Amino acid sequence: MKQLLSSKIIAEDIRNLATALQDYHDYFYGKTFLITGAGGFLGKYMVLLLHHLNEYRSHQNSIRAICLDNFITGYKQEMINDDNFEFIPHNVIESYKTDKPIDYIIHAAGIASPVYYTKFPIQTMDVGTVGTRHMLNLAKEKNVKSFIFMSSSEVYGDPDPAHVPTSEEYYGNVSIIGPRACYDESKRFGETMCSVYWKVYGLPVKMVRPFNVYGPGIRPDDYRVLPNFIEHALRKEPLPIHGNGINTRSFCYINDEIEGIFRILFSEANGESFNVGNPTPEISVKELARLVTKLMPHKVDVVYIDPPHAVYASSDPKRRCPNISKLTTITKFKPRYALEDGLRRTIDWFVENN
Ligand SMILES: NC(=O)c1ccc[n+]([C@@H]2O[C@H](COP(=O)([O-])OP(=O)(O)OC[C@H]3O[C@@H](n4cnc5c(N)ncnc54)[C@H](O)[C@@H]3O)[C@@H](O)[C@H]2O)c1
Repeated sequence: MKQLLSSKIIAEDIRNLATALQDYHDYFYGKTFLITGAGGFLGKYMVLLLHHLNEYRSHQNSIRAICLDNFITGYKQEMINDDNFEFIPHNVIESYKTDKPIDYIIHAAGIASPVYYTKFPIQTMDVGTVGTRHMLNLAKEKNVKSFIFMSSSEVYGDPDPAHVPTSEEYYGNVSIIGPRACYDESKRFGETMCSVYWKVYGLPVKMVRPFNVYGPGIRPDDYRVLPNFIEHALRKEPLPIHGNGINTRSFCYINDEIEGIFRILFSEANGESFNVGNPTPEISVKELARLVTKLMPHKVDVVYIDPPHAVYASSDPKRRCPNISKLTTITKFKPRYALEDGLRRTIDWFVENN
């Protein structure tokens, strides 16, 4: 976390994020947040934002945060620990107890990278189901103002092309026992639990479905497509494209994702699921590789390889592109970062950390 704070690019992102969320600052101040997966890619940006906002207000009105992570995939790093921020190593598969009041819970713990969820399939199922159940119970006990479950666009599986761009109404096309099922099905059931807690207990839950988030702070050895391309490019090795590279994705810069999440958290759209992503462009993996090579300061090639694992072969979704009109209508969210700009910032961060 300290290393992240010293990054010029991340510091600028956090300032921009605070400005983008200016209309919501009063929702933050004086509140206590509990964030699971706080040591992960998205969790860290959330914590840095809360920390940054505290620098501009009096101590009586500070934001407090309880940050939980077991670092199964996050870096074991020094997290912010001060009077307002408490970092607690905790596996959310076990229930978490505290005497402190909690206003908002963001359950972001998860095992999102296919390489890690194939290595830890049981833990992946459990964090999305058992972990979500514990967090819902805690939210109920604390009577929170709002609860976010970080679900995934993977709930749509391999969507029928007639449903791309995909809206929240689409039921999905997910293999129940396929190589991706431990992740996809746990997110689907996690959402079911959230919606039932809203219907039965009136718990103000919202479910967020991110679409391929990228940006500074992503774990370089995460193996997801962008960090993988950038890592290869920096080593001047050809960018490995699995198969023919015609599958498409839509990439969302981290600032846009985090802005969307907080807009949803502070909304009244209880019991609802939201796509959070950037629909433009829907880009094929081979076009993405070309774009990364164009943005590198030195020449790099691409190479087509056989998919190294079943998750990247026939079960790899062919297209991913969100319809975000629900999010835009309800929260006025609009993505701010074009793909090329976000990629430049991400590459600069990788260079900064090399
Ligand atoms: N980044 C994306 O593109 C993306 C896309 C779709 C969904 N999501 C979801 O958003 C959330 C955050 O994603 P991310 O990219 O920051 O992932 P990440 O892997 O970088 O971070 C997740 C964090 O959760 C922690 N964690 C996992 N299991 C845990 C457990 N049982 N107890 C405590 N901590 C645990 C990990 O150690 C890690 O630090 C995840 O739930 C993920 O499934 C992310």
